[in-house]
Amino acid sequence: MYAALKSIASYIPTKCVSNHDFEKILDTSDEWIIERTGISTRYFALDGEDTSDLGAKAGALAIERAGLKPSDIDLILVGTLSPDFLGMPSTACLVARKLGLSNCPAFDITAACTGFIYLLATAKAFVESGIYKKVLIIGAEKISKILDFSDRSTCVLFGDGAGAAVISTTDDPKKSILDVHISGDGNFSSLLQTPISSLKNDAKQCLQMRGNEVFKIAVKTLVTDVENIMQKNNITSKDVTYFIPHQANLRIIKAVGERLSFQKEQIILSVQKYGNTSAASIPMAMNDVYESGKLKNGDLMVLDAIGGGLTWGSALVYFDGN
Ligand code: ACO
Repeated sequence: MYAALKSIASYIPTKCVSNHDFEKILDTSDEWIIERTGISTRYFALDGEDTSDLGAKAGALAIERAGLKPSDIDLILVGTLSPDFLGMPSTACLVARKLGLSNCPAFDITAACTGFIYLLATAKAFVESGIYKKVLIIGAEKISKILDFSDRSTCVLFGDGAGAAVISTTDDPKKSILDVHISGDGNFSSLLQTPISSLKNDAKQCLQMRGNEVFKIAVKTLVTDVENIMQKNNITSKDVTYFIPHQANLRIIKAVGERLSFQKEQIILSVQKYGNTSAASIPMAMNDVYESGKLKNGDLMVLDAIGGGLTWGSALVYFDGN
């Protein structure tokens, strides 16, 4: 018995923010942001709409697309760096409540932009061990609430949103989550952080990033990580239908995609529309392919991500939805 990705869905908040909107409040320009990142727009959640609201909407649609009811779900996992609450309750518990579930295990995974890869690894382990049969995984972020809107080097990069998938069983390895690799190195923790202290509440609590240093580590790490997982599984770029990387920066995606010999048509891009939505970015991009009618049962996807921690990982996933 293998774990398989049975459905994909996303929820995009309604408030679209353009680069021109940032020109009004910051010393920045549409040209700089597009040239350095590829980003043109991003979406922000509304006041009163939190990470669990976005996650629950994406989760409900993923459950429906898997042909299930919320009560069929055995476990809910949420990947987020922008939880509703610091510490407790978990965003996963709040999502469960919003899906009408009152007796369902639920917990959060903190791996920043690598969140979706960590979710896949965890769900695969639970399903293939036989502990749970149907796991709902959700990457959900309201990063706008932790951005410093006076810091032009970070606030223009991120967006809000959620993406979700149902992971269940298959007996066909060619329909399975073939392999997932995750890793991390806390020695780089200060490169990307939200320094919220649970012991004192006077610290500056917004997201901080040493983007240039992360950029250099990102390209090298992602190329090596994907090369390793493909070699280990005897997969070449020609076997792959889509390369769906974490959407942080168009230049990183293009550099990594070229070094891995993926063709333009294989590389999925959504960073231009959504910005960096951290744990939600891979499932949001995957859902765009699905909703365009181009993601077919049996298609092989290569996923990769790097983020705060630092954390990183990659996955080989056959789509087993309809
Ligand atoms: N508008 C105009 N100028 C800007 C802006 C802006 N929005 N932001 C920075 N600048 C300026 C800087 O101040 C700097 O000016 P200086 O030369 O006078 O000092 C100049 O532009 C160059 O800055 P760099 O940081 O060197 O620019 P770079 O080309 O590296 O691009 C970026 C910055 C987009 C952040 C890039 O480094 C990047 O994408 N890094 C990786 C991000 C990433 O992948 N993160 C991991 C996942 S995120 C997560 O886990 C939460």
